[in-house]
Amino acid sequence: MLLIGKNINMRTVALGDAEFIYAMRQNQDKTKYLSKVTGTVESQKEWIKNYKKREKEGQEFYFVIESKNEEKLGLVRVYDFKDGSFCWGSWLIKEDAPKTTAIESALQIYEFGFYNLGFQKSHFDVRKGNDKVIAFHKRFGAKIVDKDELDYFFHFEKSVYELIKEKYKRYL
Ligand SMILES: CC(C)(COP(=O)(O)OP(=O)(O)OC[C@H]1O[C@@H](n2cnc3c(N)ncnc32)[C@H](O)[C@@H]1OP(=O)(O)O)[C@@H](O)C(=O)NCCC(=O)NCCS
Repeated sequence: MLLIGKNINMRTVALGDAEFIYAMRQNQDKTKYLSKVTGTVESQKEWIKNYKKREKEGQEFYFVIESKNEEKLGLVRVYDFKDGSFCWGSWLIKEDAPKTTAIESALQIYEFGFYNLGFQKSHFDVRKGNDKVIAFHKRFGAKIVDKDELDYFFHFEKSVYELIKEKYKRYL
């Protein structure tokens, strides 16, 4: 699976990405608000093998975000398809990636979820305290619909995406 963006491409992960994923998930500072990944590069490979079965069944898509020169810039995952809605997360971008990588990858995820997969809505959770990411989603027009002691739960409608898409078309 390959999604073609303006300055990035997003392709589903392969076994050879285990080292990259492992290194990204070991970055203590960047993964402060993500669930802990323990184990080794070998266990990451096992995880990818199992993920590939879910990908084949169309249950989950885990993307490496790359530059047009195939430099790996980050990761993002689409999963938990239910009630006409898809969840996205595990979003992680290298510190030195070009500035537009975050917006471009979010747009590619919405294009994929709303048009390729055909969902009407998206849902995701963001840890309380992850203020930059909370602000990012609010600027896009996502709404906080619930919270618990750990997370804020967001919804983002396709109809809202279709309105903001106009504003962001230069990133598509
Ligand atoms: C989440 C993550 C991938 C977002 O990437 P990021 O590059 O930090 O995203 P930013 O919010 O800084 O956005 C990048 C740039 O686009 C700009 N931008 C973001 N949203 C924008 C919008 N709606 N309109 C215009 N510009 C926007 C930002 O201002 C920023 O530019 P600046 O550096 O000049 O201020 C990254 O912070 C990360 O890896 N975080 C750690 C893991 C994590 O918390 N993941 C999310 C779990 S839910």
